[in-house]
Amino acid sequence: MALPEAWLNELMSKNDIASVVSEYIQLTPRGGRLWGHCPFHADKKPSLSVTPDKQLFHCFSCKAGGSVIQFIMQVENLSYIDAIRNLAQRAGMDMPDEIDDKKLLEQKRRRELIYQANREAALFYCKALFSSDGGGARRYLEKRGVSAETAKRFGLGFSPDGFDGLYKHLTALGYSRDTLIDAGLVIPGRKDPSQSFDFFRGRLMFPVISASGRVIAFGGRTMGNDEPKYINTGDTPVYNKRENIYGINLLKGKKIDDIIMVEGYMDVIALHQYGIDNAVASLGTALTSQQARLLKRYASKVYYAYDGDEAGQKAMLRGIDILSSAEIEPRVIVIPDGNDPDEYIRGFGSDSFLILKDSSITGVRFKLERMAKLSGIDTPDGRDKFAKEACALLATLDPVERDRYIPYVSETSGIIKETIREQCGIPVRAAANKTVHARYNNYKKPKADNERIGCEKKLLSCIMTSPDAGNSIGRGKNFSLSLFSSKNMRSFCARLLAMYSTSTRVDIPLMLAELEGDASDEVSSAYAAADDIADPVSCAEDIIAKLKFISLKAELSELSEKAKAADSPDKKADIIKEYSTKYALLQTLSKQHGELI
Ligand code: UTP
Ligand code: MN
Repeated sequence: MALPEAWLNELMSKNDIASVVSEYIQLTPRGGRLWGHCPFHADKKPSLSVTPDKQLFHCFSCKAGGSVIQFIMQVENLSYIDAIRNLAQRAGMDMPDEIDDKKLLEQKRRRELIYQANREAALFYCKALFSSDGGGARRYLEKRGVSAETAKRFGLGFSPDGFDGLYKHLTALGYSRDTLIDAGLVIPGRKDPSQSFDFFRGRLMFPVISASGRVIAFGGRTMGNDEPKYINTGDTPVYNKRENIYGINLLKGKKIDDIIMVEGYMDVIALHQYGIDNAVASLGTALTSQQARLLKRYASKVYYAYDGDEAGQKAMLRGIDILSSAEIEPRVIVIPDGNDPDEYIRGFGSDSFLILKDSSITGVRFKLERMAKLSGIDTPDGRDKFAKEACALLATLDPVERDRYIPYVSETSGIIKETIREQCGIPVRAAANKTVHARYNNYKKPKADNERIGCEKKLLSCIMTSPDAGNSIGRGKNFSLSLFSSKNMRSFCARLLAMYSTSTRVDIPLMLAELEGDASDEVSSAYAAADDIADPVSCAEDIIAKLKFISLKAELSELSEKAKAADSPDKKADIIKEYSTKYALLQTLSKQHGELI
């Protein structure tokens, strides 16, 4: 007996695997999955895992596995069809009529007609774009920097502003009204349902093309300011927006290392036009596990480059987990100044975009940064909250991966690394116990100026910690007194280094006593922090890099402003070149010192 696909999908979605399995065994979450004792063999430790995102179970010991159907077949010892019956009963669904081959064939024929109608519609829209009707749409594309060549590559079009131009054209070609309504191209009149209207009218048209190259849906953008900005084909027998990805057709046959996931049609198009031909979009919806599986066929690393607004950030957060469950490595490209990829690449070019890509952050780092932002780390309570949430996340990672994030969490929360490790469930080494009392030793206010002064103080305190360290830092090629913006600290450091190189015993308290006013306050507070530094040399190296990092960031944002204001293309190109070089430097620094993991 063949069961209709839609009915089976409904059955599966109404029988969530985690809740079905947990009726038989107890499940506990760990590492993004649920674990329990496998009912199919004598299981001492919990070796059966359930992955809710994929709706699969797997026993790492006896290797049993599959969907909720296989689970019921095995646990209840039923045939396939009886397991289905069992699940239908649980979900309160009637068993469907058996569908015979004739019905299946009919469904297939209907789908085929919709594909063809969509193709004809795409041709119709395309022709309209390049006809006299399409003048406004062509000018709109030009204004947005889309070349005619790109428009053709993406099959862009224009839906004329009449009521039923497409309807008339396609019925004249022999397509039935029903087919056109099924395809979502035509809608019955609201007042008089016997009337027929084109669904897309007066819009710039984006055909959505499947991996196999068939037109399955459309998006249509208004060229004015009216709402909604985009309308899209709803679900049809050939299209389900949860399963498709815009631009997937362009990945076919290409050798790509990774995929760039953006939010919108225009972002994909702009990136391609600038030679970045591995960009796709999930089209405004949060990524689904079906979409992730589709992506996995092309690459196992996905760079998110969503808009910086709250909706975009939230969508990435969910998407990161979905990608990880599909065994795709998620990374996040942070686009500065609230630009979307389209605006950024048109403003700064593809080199700059690729540099942003190179300095992307991991999914985990993205989550941690967001936690920090939401916890409000300028208060001690906020920092504690951040640390606890961050540790809960780190505890789900494997130890090697976790270790990469401990410095960031420690620095951001101001809580020493040993305490962070302990909170993540990692035993603290005996030697490290000594410093546990100083919890908030290294918190630096994240504001630009304070951050800089905080770093300078910490650098000075590294140098004060020991003469040996002072000598080696002072002679290091990256060090220079100009790293200190504070005059007080600069001159104190200069004296201290001079003393280290000439005398065997340097009495720092005495030196402090000789200082006056501001200088005394500033240098003493640096000295007070000196006790908590375990390895002054490597700490100083990190801080030196961080200070360079802070200056570079300031220079970059200045250049970005300058590029925007540049009055000639040549000038702009020069600025962008300088920007790119500085960005590359920033990126090297980040990589060496783990600023952006
Ligand atoms: P955005 O609002 O970010 O638009 O929506 P965009 O892609 O940058 O478009 P431009 O640059 O203003 O032309 C991102 C995506 O969300 C979907 C579309 O797929 C869009 O590309 N969306 C957005 C809709 O479906 N409907 C809407 O009304 C808005
Ligand atoms: Mn946009």
